[in-house]
Amino acid sequence: MNQPLMAGIPAVNAPAHVKHQKLINWVAEIAALTKPARIYWCDGSQEEYDRLCAEMVAAGTMKKLNPEKRPNSYLACSDPSDVARVEDRTFICSQNKEDAGPTNNWTDPAEMRQTLNGLFDGCMAGRTLYVVPFSMGPLGSPIAHIGVELSDSPYVAVNMRIMTRMGKAVYDVLGTDGEFVPCVHTVGAPLAAGQKDVAWPCNATKYIVHYPETREIWSYGSGYGGNALLGKKCFALRIASTMGRAQGWLAEHMLILGVESPEGKKHYVAAAFPSACGKTNFAMLIPPKAFGGWKVTTIGDDIAWIKPGADGRLYAINPEAGYFGVAPGTNEKSNYNCMASVSANTIFTNVALTDDGDVWWEGMTKEAPAHLIDWQGKDWTPEIGKETGRKAAHPNARFTVAATQNPVIDPAWDDPAGVPISAFIFGGRRSTTVPLVTEARNWVEGVYMAATMGSETTAAAVGQQGVVRRDPFAMLPFAGYNMSEYFQHWLDIGKKIAASPAELPKIYCVNWFRTDADGKFVWPGFGDNMRVLKWMLDRIEDPQGVKSGGVEHLFGITPRFEDLQWEGLDFSADQFATITSIDKAAWLKELELHAELFDKLKHKLPAELQGVKDKLEKKLAA
Ligand code: OXD
Ligand code: MN
Repeated sequence: MNQPLMAGIPAVNAPAHVKHQKLINWVAEIAALTKPARIYWCDGSQEEYDRLCAEMVAAGTMKKLNPEKRPNSYLACSDPSDVARVEDRTFICSQNKEDAGPTNNWTDPAEMRQTLNGLFDGCMAGRTLYVVPFSMGPLGSPIAHIGVELSDSPYVAVNMRIMTRMGKAVYDVLGTDGEFVPCVHTVGAPLAAGQKDVAWPCNATKYIVHYPETREIWSYGSGYGGNALLGKKCFALRIASTMGRAQGWLAEHMLILGVESPEGKKHYVAAAFPSACGKTNFAMLIPPKAFGGWKVTTIGDDIAWIKPGADGRLYAINPEAGYFGVAPGTNEKSNYNCMASVSANTIFTNVALTDDGDVWWEGMTKEAPAHLIDWQGKDWTPEIGKETGRKAAHPNARFTVAATQNPVIDPAWDDPAGVPISAFIFGGRRSTTVPLVTEARNWVEGVYMAATMGSETTAAAVGQQGVVRRDPFAMLPFAGYNMSEYFQHWLDIGKKIAASPAELPKIYCVNWFRTDADGKFVWPGFGDNMRVLKWMLDRIEDPQGVKSGGVEHLFGITPRFEDLQWEGLDFSADQFATITSIDKAAWLKELELHAELFDKLKHKLPAELQGVKDKLEKKLAA
């Protein structure tokens, strides 16, 4: 296998520690198709990371930031056309269209393979094919799974080293015949002999393709984020959700945090929010001063894999090893721990460059620096920003940083056994209608809440921003199979655990984003979300207790003003009413939108969910 396969195709040259012949054969097969100039097997070492980064600096893909300001950190600026996930170019190619369901793009897998074989033929010419072995989850954990990404992007290789457990040790777990999810990625920009490369190669044509039955991922044309770091959305959500359905577990778009009371009682909660709704902030929140002794710690900020344990509880791991977070809006006040995390050893993408070689983005400081180079490499001043409306950083600008840099990382974040989940939280970005917090009365009503979640769209995906769309479980762009069957899977998991109902996590629906008549957010959010979290924990610990009161309303239980702890925050009962009131007319409209969603998902929609909706409608009519 160490001989060139055919003229113009490099030798595979698998290192001696790779003993998995099927993997070596697959690398050879992909190389024969994509025709790279060379093949490089990543070992995941610091030396390798530093070298690849230096090569990208020399090629103009990244800039090294001032080591005195931001040690060992880099800035990459993408092509202006390649800045977010491309949902309309993302495909679930199951054998039957019905298995992908009405919320996914589907193409017959045979037809898609033909298309991609054409596009991938010679697509890596002139480039290096990087073999990137990675584990989603702690190496060797019974909850973890292995993937191997073949990519012609060194940016992908270094980001994968931060975002996953990437490197040589993966081959020890794989052995001679272990299972792995094959992931093929190309920027889709072959180089002719002697042709000079550009800083951020990509292609106007993009395909992000999943074959759920054979658990394969093929990605063409983009070098950015979830389109290219295939361990993240493609594997850990789309493919893993189909594995979870088959094997009885959950792959979710959720952060996981630990919260400990001054008395030392600790709970873990998992929370789903659509992209760019503050998951990273919530996962690292610092409780207000008046909450002395309360501690919040992070297990993960984006994805949770959750499996029933032998004791009947649900256990979660973070399959990732780093954070690929949204930079704009992040500052010392909104997320102190995040700012500390990115103080060194960070890759920034599409933020602005300061004159002293550091980074800046909108919302980082109150005042913008007098001069910047913006994410598109142009001069930027606050005046130019005002005149043109041009942002210095792209609204979906990101940082990639290792989880271990987080000062409030939970001691159990890398525990192969995972952590037990006490509550699920679902939240959308809604300026109206949905109250601050509601506790579902039971599992089925909680699943209904999550299934009918709506949210205003953000810059994390290409498309119009700020329009409300239904985003069930914050999984609309990430469920790898039919959404109605996904709902059923959640109901089934609930039934499985209902054998010991005390172990069933409570389900909450939250909305931090309600606005007043002037369009301003009413709820302070960020650290003050601890006030809501504490109410949930009080209810979990002692549902009948004096501290855990609430009232039943339209679709669950909400706290009264006096049920939240307000010390240290000037927030009036009137303001509270603004963000918790139930407007009957708005809810009648909301239920029409639920009906629209259910109509779209009517094939295999669980009858139990329709039942919850009927009950809600009756209540509203009363
Ligand atoms: C993400 C996203 O990058 O949800 O996490 O878009
Ligand atoms: Mn996400």
